[in-house]
Amino acid sequence: MCGIVGFVGKKQAAPILLDGLSKLEYRGYDSAGIAVRNGDEPAKIVKSKGRLKILSEKTDSGNALIGTCGIGHTRWATHGEPSTVNSHPHISGNCMGTDFGEVESEVIGVHNGIIENFKELKGKLLKHGYTFYSQTDTEVVIKLVDYYYKKYTHDPQEAIAKTMVRVRGSYALCLMFKSCPGEIWVARKDSPMIIGISEGETYVASDVPAILNYTRNVYYIGNLEMARLTAGKVSFFNLDGDEIDKKSTEIKWNAESAEKNGYEHFMMKEIHEQPKAVQDTLNSLVKDGKIDLDSIGLSDEEIKSISQICMVACGSAYHTCVVTQYVMESMAKIPVRVEIASEFRYRGPVLDKNGLVIVVSQSGETADTLAALRLAKEKGIKTLAIVNVVGSSIAREADNVFYTLAGPEIAVATTKAYSTQLIAGYLLAVQFAFVRNEIDSEYYAGLINELYTIPQKIEKILEDKERIQWFVAKQANAKDVFFIGRGIDYAVCLEGSLKMKEISYVHSEAYAAGELKHGTISLIEEGTLVIGVLTQSGLYEKTVSNMVECKSRGGYLMGLTSYGHYEIEDTADFTVYIPKTDEHFSASLSVIPLQLMGYYLSVSRGLDVDKPRNLAKSVTVE
Ligand code: AGP
Repeated sequence: MCGIVGFVGKKQAAPILLDGLSKLEYRGYDSAGIAVRNGDEPAKIVKSKGRLKILSEKTDSGNALIGTCGIGHTRWATHGEPSTVNSHPHISGNCMGTDFGEVESEVIGVHNGIIENFKELKGKLLKHGYTFYSQTDTEVVIKLVDYYYKKYTHDPQEAIAKTMVRVRGSYALCLMFKSCPGEIWVARKDSPMIIGISEGETYVASDVPAILNYTRNVYYIGNLEMARLTAGKVSFFNLDGDEIDKKSTEIKWNAESAEKNGYEHFMMKEIHEQPKAVQDTLNSLVKDGKIDLDSIGLSDEEIKSISQICMVACGSAYHTCVVTQYVMESMAKIPVRVEIASEFRYRGPVLDKNGLVIVVSQSGETADTLAALRLAKEKGIKTLAIVNVVGSSIAREADNVFYTLAGPEIAVATTKAYSTQLIAGYLLAVQFAFVRNEIDSEYYAGLINELYTIPQKIEKILEDKERIQWFVAKQANAKDVFFIGRGIDYAVCLEGSLKMKEISYVHSEAYAAGELKHGTISLIEEGTLVIGVLTQSGLYEKTVSNMVECKSRGGYLMGLTSYGHYEIEDTADFTVYIPKTDEHFSASLSVIPLQLMGYYLSVSRGLDVDKPRNLAKSVTVE
């Protein structure tokens, strides 16, 4: 939930740390801090509440801190309110001191994750004379490392290993020891962390974009592993202290993929990247006009033998599972159930041993989705992960992986990852239907051709985005918005409503259109905006009737439907048309105007589109 960066080499560390943190602000942005060491002098720490900009100003863009070894952090508060004292780095000493003051403590550290048993550990440390200046779990873990360091052999590796065995929860820890100048020690469990190497320089970060300006040579540190970083060198260890051999991976995508490229916001850039992301994801599994699922571990034999599918995810990824459920059951006639990961993991789900569990995640680090995956594996069920981030925890732990090729997604509100997850779901559904003899080869070929028309159809919708901007500008003061639809349209409403809520802070509800009159319709007042999504011809008239019911109660109607359904103008006050496609795939098109609505509403209300309040891009805590 937070972003961490570390550097050791010949260059000045502080500007590199600030640059890296600026690429990680999407992970948290309520406070930030850095600690830098110059040779064997004690470290100096500077921290500030608020955005990274404030820290950067405080340190004259890093130039006010001299030293070639350092660690930095951008925070999304879990334990302890957002404040300077709670921000990282934290120290093993009993008093935080002032900005730029020399830190005499043995251990200084930054942390991403949650230490679940921090209260118990704090009690233990209090008994040993430690006192605490912050409300964070991080301060506790740093002091625990200090405790073991002093108690045993003054060996960082042993102190960290003892700490790892003692703490419960998730962590990516990045530490400096006063007695080990020119070294950074790291450890991880269930929170992401990568290490980069170039000539004479070593980097550590929560995510690749933070170090991509400096190196493409990346190591993935595994769960319950530690590493010692020195200038240009990294050594990995397991909990027993044995050294582990690792190979580096070359990152193929470039730094521009993680820049705005002239767009005002990452979200708008990423909305425009959807045609390419969809095309790339299709190309990854379609070869010579056929879908190849062998490469993701699903042979025809296996596809035939799977008794049921259970899809598990959070947020928007969950919404793509709802779409896939409709498409898969309609096409392949295989039972699909969809679960929210945070529910699934604790309710003792009953799973068929011949079933397939599919987890879906952009980041591959969402704590609840990861836990759901582990639960399915514990039960001996075959697992497939649909993931965007290469080498992420979910990608590494699943039996098989279907990588969506959205590229790095920076805006907190997902758009292009959502679109590629839909494509992944369609490809599975079409192939399952074909292999299980539910569709003939002619329809199969037609569906694949149709999938390839989606990118240009998205382009066409984007050409008309100003019309949506104009409409949305008039809704800037809306208090409640309702999204209604049936079938796949209902699944898209879930996503449209979430987009609106998360970035424009306007309350909205997504409702299965037929369910509205069972209570929620009482919320419709004069002028309440009701958005009807109507792309499923068999359900069209029924949703129109539900829209009319809203209109009779004062609702102001927007209709979102395919070209040709012009009669919607008799009912709706404003209409948006999307190109026609096979109705199974309509979500890929109908979601685009809804993404644009969320975006423009946020802009018209003067909000921070890419970094909405209280949120972070990947939710690595439960
Ligand atoms: C969507 O805009 C949100 N950012 C959020 O719902 C997100 O989809 C969810 O947290 C799941 O994340 P993941 O795909 O990285 O697992």
